[in-house]
Amino acid sequence: MNPSLLVVEDDEVMCKTIAEVFEKKGLRVLSAKNGEDAIIYLTREIIDLALIDFRLPGMNGLTLLKAIKEMDDGIMVIVMTAYPEVKMAISAMKAGAYDYINKPFELEELKLLIDKALEIQKMKFDILRLQRIKCEEDYFGEMIGTGSVFNELKGFILKVAKAPKTPILIQGESGVGKELVANAIHQNSDRAGKPFLKVNCSAIPDTLLEAELFGYEKGAFTDAKQSRKGLFELSDGGTLFLDEIGDMKPHIQPKILRVIEYQNFRKIGGNRDIQVDVRIITATNRDLKTMVEKGLFREDLYYRLKVMTINVPPLRERREDIIHIVDALIKNYNKLFGKNIKGLSDDAMSLLYNYPWPGNIRELKNVIERACILSGSDIILPSHLPEELRNTEKKNLKGAEINRDLKSLQDVERNHIIRILGEVEGNKSSAAKILGISRLTLREKMKKYGIEESA
Ligand SMILES: Nc1ncnc2c1ncn2[C@@H]1O[C@H](COP(=O)(O)OP(=O)(O)OP(=O)(O)O)[C@@H](O)[C@H]1O
Ligand SMILES: [Mg+2]
Repeated sequence: MNPSLLVVEDDEVMCKTIAEVFEKKGLRVLSAKNGEDAIIYLTREIIDLALIDFRLPGMNGLTLLKAIKEMDDGIMVIVMTAYPEVKMAISAMKAGAYDYINKPFELEELKLLIDKALEIQKMKFDILRLQRIKCEEDYFGEMIGTGSVFNELKGFILKVAKAPKTPILIQGESGVGKELVANAIHQNSDRAGKPFLKVNCSAIPDTLLEAELFGYEKGAFTDAKQSRKGLFELSDGGTLFLDEIGDMKPHIQPKILRVIEYQNFRKIGGNRDIQVDVRIITATNRDLKTMVEKGLFREDLYYRLKVMTINVPPLRERREDIIHIVDALIKNYNKLFGKNIKGLSDDAMSLLYNYPWPGNIRELKNVIERACILSGSDIILPSHLPEELRNTEKKNLKGAEINRDLKSLQDVERNHIIRILGEVEGNKSSAAKILGISRLTLREKMKKYGIEESA
């Protein structure tokens, strides 16, 4: 919208002349004969600039100026005074006027003054907008969750997002939200305005994957009729997300390592190094460490990637979020299917809560979608949930019995410690944190149970 100028002047000729001049310059000009009329405009319109005469019938210019500043401090006010009124001009400046102009004046002089005021106002507006963008909430997109596990994940995302180039490895079971995490890292980083490109390394045959990533020169192979940019070049300045990195064929892996180390690569068939500035995020639901041991994944790349690892916890380790995610999903599906489902019955909810969710949030989404379709009323009942959810409770009970029969509490504790140590790759601080005991206690227990340091 064009900037607007409010002229408050009781001399009609003067008022008209000013209006004509500035309308020609593209401003939206509003004219008022006195302060009272001006106030009415101010309550109804968005005003950027006000040009007010000091001497007005009724409310004087200074009072009007103060009223304007009180109503909207962002309006820039220029006061017109007669030559001998220097003192008044000073009090106007003190009351927050942007500037003043002495009558009589040349229109050119007024034009310059108003141009400058508009320019300053635009700058102020830009700064405000930038500040607002900066203060805007951190970005987590579709990610829902409120529990402490989820909050810890969010905090970690924000931290790694700030490291400008460090590659990040996102690990987690299938369906936990690794892709959303990758997106959140990009959006919360300084690269947010730049490209965020993704490629699924398992979905593309490996010859194509190489061309996709690095691009090719004309004539590099039979089908290369034209040279083409690859994803590394296209995401320059931004982030490239290599999903399912565990499925990347070994011969491409060293090339990825090179981009990470030196930020350069060559196109297929090219003889020139291309320099890029790309943050690489990788994700996998495979156990890369085991893959390395079996020779299926390059050790050097693994060590480079795992420097900054985010483990996205499975849904069963943050059951407190289930209810919030379900709420959001139901709202969505209501819209999609034109339904009005209010929620789940208590027993249906408890089935959701007790199920181990091997397919994590993706599975939860499917279950809720299906239930929303099946439910004929405004509530989801156990009968709308799949068989395997309804069986969980029985299975859990059985499992507990077997454990009680075969294992002592100490056995269970020992096994649990070994399991956790394995999951955090032997990092005792992390293990202690997960187990809710101090490092010292953990060390004592490891000694007691004869658990090796490297377990
Ligand atoms: N915290 C969350 N809140 C709401 N929806 C989520 C959340 N996390 C994941 N989802 C949804 O769950 C589904 C699976 O997420 P995503 O594709 O990111 O998982 P993934 O870990 O990449 O899975 P995979 O290993 O199978 O590729 C998506 O539809 C996503 O929108
Ligand atoms: Mg994924």
